[in-house]
Amino acid sequence: MKEELPPEGPPRFEVRVLPDPAEAAGAAAREVALAFADGLSDHRVFRPAFSGGSTPRLLFDALAGPAFRSLVDWSRTRIFFVDERCVPPDDARSNYRMAKEHLLDPLRIPKENVFRMRGEDAPAGAARAYEDAVIGEFGAAGFPRFDFVLLGLGPDGHTASLFPGTRALEEAERRVAENYVPRLSEWRLTLTLPVLNAARRAVFLVVGAEKAGAVSAVLRAEHARPALPASLVRPRAGSLVWIVDEAAASEL
Ligand code: 6PG
Repeated sequence: MKEELPPEGPPRFEVRVLPDPAEAAGAAAREVALAFADGLSDHRVFRPAFSGGSTPRLLFDALAGPAFRSLVDWSRTRIFFVDERCVPPDDARSNYRMAKEHLLDPLRIPKENVFRMRGEDAPAGAARAYEDAVIGEFGAAGFPRFDFVLLGLGPDGHTASLFPGTRALEEAERRVAENYVPRLSEWRLTLTLPVLNAARRAVFLVVGAEKAGAVSAVLRAEHARPALPASLVRPRAGSLVWIVDEAAASEL
């Protein structure tokens, strides 16, 4: 059954609570399709950036499934990543590997349309290389305006690889940063907050009771200090949509 898509209006802020993870993934897939349809009007290429972790797998499987796969012209889609763990691309922790298995391969996205963060390289050099790739795609003026940015939420309120108290969270100039996360004792690569806030559409997809505290803290804590990273994502001229399942919304 092919989804019907209503025309998209001006930027919006919305919190949508869906009954379960599968319904939440379908709602997020619909947002991808809307973002693609939106972009058709003024530019020919669709440029999403996807986060990693485990939740996006639900979205990727939905996008590669019969209801949504034909709603996006994947031949005109150039896929970027929001963040990456500093590990080789075949490592079980690699965000690229998960995307390859659940999205890139099932949809046969051509390699030249995939912009991978090189987690296998030294972090600072990999961040610079990705910054160059982003500039190559979007130009050097201002911050890149991704058509769609998929974000997740950690129990500590982190998003992308912008963790509380880490240096990359403060980055206001660079588009891509390397970030050491003491709590995980690992290096990450991440798009920076100015890039997330330049998006045409930023969508948080959050499911599971273990996220309920963080969802409530981010969506309710208007004036928490220091602000949780996810609460700093407010696209200046774009839509912000929170898609959560009932379990993750249980403390709202
Ligand atoms: C990553 C992500 C990260 C993720 C949250 C939630 O590389 O891990 O980009 O920000 O979105 O940690 O992760 P889960 O989806 O696995 O709960």
